[in-house]
Amino acid sequence: MTTAVTGATGNLGGLVVDALIERGVAPAEIVAVVRNADKASALADRGVVIRVADYSDTAALTSALAGVDKLLLVSGSEVGQRIAQHNNVIDAAEAAGVSLIAYTSLLAADTSGISLAPEHKATEERLTASSIPAVFLRNGWYWENYLGSLAQTIESGVLLGAAGNGKLAAASRADFAEAAAAVLTLDGQGGKVYELGGSERLTYGELADVISEISGKSIVYKDLAESEYAAILQGAGLPDFVAAMLASADAGISRGELDTDSGDLQALIGRASTPAAQVLRAAV
Ligand SMILES: NC(=O)c1ccc[n+]([C@@H]2O[C@H](COP(=O)([O-])OP(=O)(O)OC[C@H]3O[C@@H](n4cnc5c(N)ncnc54)[C@H](OP(=O)(O)O)[C@@H]3O)[C@@H](O)[C@H]2O)c1
Repeated sequence: MTTAVTGATGNLGGLVVDALIERGVAPAEIVAVVRNADKASALADRGVVIRVADYSDTAALTSALAGVDKLLLVSGSEVGQRIAQHNNVIDAAEAAGVSLIAYTSLLAADTSGISLAPEHKATEERLTASSIPAVFLRNGWYWENYLGSLAQTIESGVLLGAAGNGKLAAASRADFAEAAAAVLTLDGQGGKVYELGGSERLTYGELADVISEISGKSIVYKDLAESEYAAILQGAGLPDFVAAMLASADAGISRGELDTDSGDLQALIGRASTPAAQVLRAAV
């Protein structure tokens, strides 16, 4: 039984490979599909099979997936190009005779108003139309998403955002990776849709309290309009589309779109998810 992981040189994909090995999958039965072999040398040293293919190259993807039974398609990071890229991977998996595709989607991808959702929804629709059974790992937000601005938040004493009083059920990247590895090693997963969110569901006001606790400084949450928050992020030097995407995600949090009490993540990993304080404290 061979399991392939795309994006294996990325943060999540690398953690999925770790989790597969932790669950007893032999490295020689794991195929890391990467676009840059130089970044995969540590994986190769551990005995993982490295195959090179970019999401834009269906022929290379088809060769890379030869002999693969189960595939984890890690959603790409090139926003705006991902529908075509993911379709290429699915086309290649069909040509290669893959028996199951797990896809890292977004919480409530079919109804979410977050700007990232349409690409995930389109990929889910392509997978539903595929001859290959598929499982949707609708990942919630990573707590790690708050690490980039953490120093500035602590320095200023203000957590900025546009999430209102919405609850955010985030978890650590490693939690989501463990869930993916569980799905890849379980039978009967085709057709399942997992809404994956953390055990800890915080408003941004409560997240500010967590940052106060770990930093020893008083942090308050300042709620902004989505457009105002996007403008501040742009002013801080973020590319326009990234600023708009982050502000859109916050607006989604205000509407409850990155919250869930499904229990799916906890059931797959067999424990509560990692608290925000544990992820953020490591960076303070
Ligand atoms: N749930 C969340 O909070 C959250 C946050 C951020 C992102 N995401 C989504 O989840 C995915 C995984 O997260 P992550 O933290 O692991 O992101 P990441 O570290 O940026 O990893 C993305 C992976 O996709 C690969 N990739 C991108 N474009 C590719 C292409 N054209 N061909 C082949 N491979 C390509 C990258 O390859 P290289 O290693 O060569 O760059 C990398 O390995 C992201 O790509 C994004 O879709 C979710």
